[in-house]
Amino acid sequence: MRARQPRAASGRGRNAEYYPLSTRSRFTAMMVRIPNVLTQAQVQACRQALETAPWIEGKLTAGSLTAPRKNNMQVPANHPIARRLSEMIMEALKKNAMFMRAALPVRLIPPLFNRYTPGEYYGPHVDATVQQVWGVNDRVRTDLSATLFLSAPEEYDGGELTITDDLGERPIKLPAGDLVLYPATSIHHVSPVTRGARIASFFWVQSMVRDDNLRGLLFELGTALAQFEEAVPGNPAITKLTGVYFNLFRLWTDTN
Ligand code: NI
Repeated sequence: MRARQPRAASGRGRNAEYYPLSTRSRFTAMMVRIPNVLTQAQVQACRQALETAPWIEGKLTAGSLTAPRKNNMQVPANHPIARRLSEMIMEALKKNAMFMRAALPVRLIPPLFNRYTPGEYYGPHVDATVQQVWGVNDRVRTDLSATLFLSAPEEYDGGELTITDDLGERPIKLPAGDLVLYPATSIHHVSPVTRGARIASFFWVQSMVRDDNLRGLLFELGTALAQFEEAVPGNPAITKLTGVYFNLFRLWTDTN
């Protein structure tokens, strides 16, 4: 007895309904949570230093398109406190295997610092495409945006970093010391804070793999390989798969 063939669907739309061959036209943001980028002692050191830092209106550093939506405070990028803390965070990032695997950074904007107190927010926007590194003749293409939380969730209400994609709005509020990486191409906002203060560090990464989908595949493969090596150390298949990882990386990389 022959299996019943699916009835041929008429029209493109119908086909698409039965056979969703491609999801690439849909946008689902790959977000990666990286826990404990900073130790609690480092978080406290940042918080104490930031108490003595000057804060200026965040609007001053926004482009003309986003400035009207931006209502928060920032430490000037060239202030010695910002620069010292920035260095500390960059050192921590370099040592963080999960960050390196997820971001595959070629360069990054030194981390900056922002604060939202009651009534402050950042309306929906897409981050600027290219950012200038302060004091250096260097530009960074913003492939990935990053937020490193410095306030604990119980210290404030509201203030969720909310990323919008085809699955809807995804609000994010992480423990102090944790970081979220998300595509800079996404529309996102920070909800109004209604109590306390939300203090965070933020920065952008230019990745060696520009395409979010390809970078996501490498991250999945690299993560699975690390788990595989832990479960079955020295298995020869790991060497072959590591070769596949590196050869795909070589194919897709752009180190400029
Ligand atoms: Ni943004």
